[in-house]
Amino acid sequence: MQVINTVAEMLALRWSAGESVGLVPTMGYLHDGHLSLAHAARQECDRVVVSIFVNPTQFGPREDLSRYPRDLPRDLALLDQANVDYVFTPTAEDVYPSGFASYIDPIGPLVERLEGATRPGHFRGVATVVAKLFQLVRPQRAYFGQKDAQQAAVIRRLVADLHFGLTLRILPTVREADGLAMSSRNAYLSPEERQAATILYKALTEARRQVDAGEPNTDALRVTLARVIASEPRAHLDYADVCDPNTMLPLPRIEPGQPVLLALAARVGPARLIDNFLRHPDRIWDGDTRSQS
Ligand code: PAJ
Repeated sequence: MQVINTVAEMLALRWSAGESVGLVPTMGYLHDGHLSLAHAARQECDRVVVSIFVNPTQFGPREDLSRYPRDLPRDLALLDQANVDYVFTPTAEDVYPSGFASYIDPIGPLVERLEGATRPGHFRGVATVVAKLFQLVRPQRAYFGQKDAQQAAVIRRLVADLHFGLTLRILPTVREADGLAMSSRNAYLSPEERQAATILYKALTEARRQVDAGEPNTDALRVTLARVIASEPRAHLDYADVCDPNTMLPLPRIEPGQPVLLALAARVGPARLIDNFLRHPDRIWDGDTRSQS
């Protein structure tokens, strides 16, 4: 495994003709969710690049950039075991040198609702760094987690809108045994808060049961999500919504067979946690503009 520490070195790497390259962008402090993406890339691509970069532009001024967990030696050992070929770990100064002035700024409800409402500018930072990584690595495939459903939708749009011409692979959320979605931010939780954090999964499970039973009324589902979160005193709801998984617009009702995203964000102690369930992931738009309905 080769560690690439600079943008210049990454740009100097040349892929052989016909070699397929898979990119897994991360912010490090790796867990089994990240590793599931690396394993899929390993199976599907000749060369696997994992980036580890805590991207400052996607954090708001009062967010957790300075305390975001980091453990590069451990991450490198895990990626070596996963048979990754290259780990790209540039510095913030290298990615955003002085004079940097070109952002990718997605617009509209897709970036303004849900996460975007609480974290203005977040998806501008995500889209900018992901576009940079695509330019630097030039992968044929890029791997993202369904855990960040809105991020996945923003990146599908980005790939289509800027003609990146790569295949996106969005893989299922990896969970702890009790259902909690794996997240680097779970490290912020005390044992009591860690226990309380399972309430997000419980709320989603209950709402999904209602969807599966044929409940068409999305307000009833929003009420269920909020009610279950409210039953846990350590959890404070940010949003609970039922949306179109491509646009993030709220769904007025659920039609049979329609893809639906149940999306939740809640604070538990010092951590802000998100989770979601996506119904019919195989039926959502894959980022190919030719097949957009
Ligand atoms: P990070 O939070 O480190 O996540 C990196 C990738 O791992 C993302 O695609 C995320 O959706 C996926 N992931 C996280 N937890 C997961 C889980 N429990 N199961 C499956 N996949 C999971 O997301 C980011 O970093 C950044 O925004 C990034 C895309 C790297 C841009 O800076």
